[in-house]
Amino acid sequence: MKIAVLGGAGFIGSAFVRELNKRGIRPIVIDLLTYAGRVENLKDTDHEFIKADIRDQKLHDILKDHKVDVVINFAAESHVDRSIYKPQDFVTTNVLGTINVLEASRLLGFRYVHISTDEVYGEECSDEDSPLNPSSPYSAAKASADLFVKAYVRTYSVNAIIVRPSNNYGPRQFPEKFIPKAIIRTLLGLHVPVYGNGKQERDWIYVEDTARIIADLMEKAEWKGEVYNIPGGQRISNVDLLRMLGEVMGKEIKVKFVSDRPGHDRRYCMDTRLKYSVTPLKEGLRRTYEWYVENEWWWKPLIADKFFKEDEPWR
Ligand SMILES: NC(=O)c1ccc[n+]([C@@H]2O[C@H](COP(=O)([O-])OP(=O)(O)OC[C@H]3O[C@@H](n4cnc5c(N)ncnc54)[C@H](O)[C@@H]3O)[C@@H](O)[C@H]2O)c1
Repeated sequence: MKIAVLGGAGFIGSAFVRELNKRGIRPIVIDLLTYAGRVENLKDTDHEFIKADIRDQKLHDILKDHKVDVVINFAAESHVDRSIYKPQDFVTTNVLGTINVLEASRLLGFRYVHISTDEVYGEECSDEDSPLNPSSPYSAAKASADLFVKAYVRTYSVNAIIVRPSNNYGPRQFPEKFIPKAIIRTLLGLHVPVYGNGKQERDWIYVEDTARIIADLMEKAEWKGEVYNIPGGQRISNVDLLRMLGEVMGKEIKVKFVSDRPGHDRRYCMDTRLKYSVTPLKEGLRRTYEWYVENEWWWKPLIADKFFKEDEPWR
C-alpha cells in the first residue's frame, strides 16, 4: 500500500511517519517546509521526501506519479495565535489546500484521511454528530475544510474520513505552543505567559497515541465520510497543567497572567465512540520534558520567533 503523508515534516505528521515505519511502511512525505515544517523532525525515519505545496496543482501529478492508495493530510497552519494575527494563510492552506487534495482524490480515486481538530466544536461538550461552532480564524478554517470533505463524499463519493484529535503534546512540537513554550521558557529562566485567568480547560493527548490511533483507524474505516473523535480524556485547566509540569520538571514555573486571547474558548470537551488507551498525562509530560532537555539543538534556533518570545503575540 502506497501512503502519502502531507505535512509529514510537522509535529504530528512526523510522529505519524514514525508510526508507519514501526508498521513496516515507507511513506512519501509531502511538505512545503513552512516555519513549522522541518526535515530535522524526520531524522532517522524511512521515507521519500518531496517538497510541495498542497495548494498547488502540481500536487496532483506527484500523487498520480506515485500511484498512492491513501493520503493523510496533516498539512495546515496550526497555531490559533497566528490565525488571529494574520488569518489569510489559514484560509488558503487549511481550506483551499484541502479542496485541492479532495479534487485529486476525486480524479485519482485514493482514500483520504482528513485531520481536523476538537476546536471545530467550540466550547460545548460534543460527540461526532454535534454541530460545528468554531471561534477562531483557525477553527473556522478547519471547520470549513471539514464541510468540504463531507460535500465531496456526498457529491462525488470520494472515499474519506475525518479525524478530530484533541490538544496534542510531545516531542518536536514547535515552541510557539503552550507546553513546549512553558518547558523551554522555564529552562531559560523566563516567565510563562498565561492568557486570562488560566482556567481554560484543554484535553491533552500524547502525540504518539494520536499517531497510533489514526494508523489503527485506517485499517477499520469504512471511508464513507465518518467522523472519528480522538480525545485524550485528560481535561485540565492551563494553570493546573503548569502546576503538574512544574512537579515533573522539579522546577518552579513563573506564571505571568496576561490579557486573554480574543475569542478564547473556555474549554474543549469531546466524547468518542472509539476504544483505546492513552499515556497518562504526567508520564507524557515527563517524556516530553526529557526530550526537550536532551534536544536543545532542535529548539535553540527557534526561540527568536515572535510567537515564542512575546506574552501576547497575536497583537
Ligand atoms: N497540534 C495539535 O494539538 C493538534 C490538535 C488537533 C488537530 N491538529 C491538526 O493536526 C494537523 C497537524 O498539526 P501539527 O500540530 O502537526 O501542525 P504543525 O504546524 O506542527 O505542522 C504542519 C505541517 O504542515 C506543513 N504545511 C503547512 N502549510 C503547508 C502547505 N501549504 N503545503 C504543504 N505543507 C504545508 C508545515 O510545513 C508543517 O510541516 C493540523 O491539521 C492541525 O490542525 C493539531
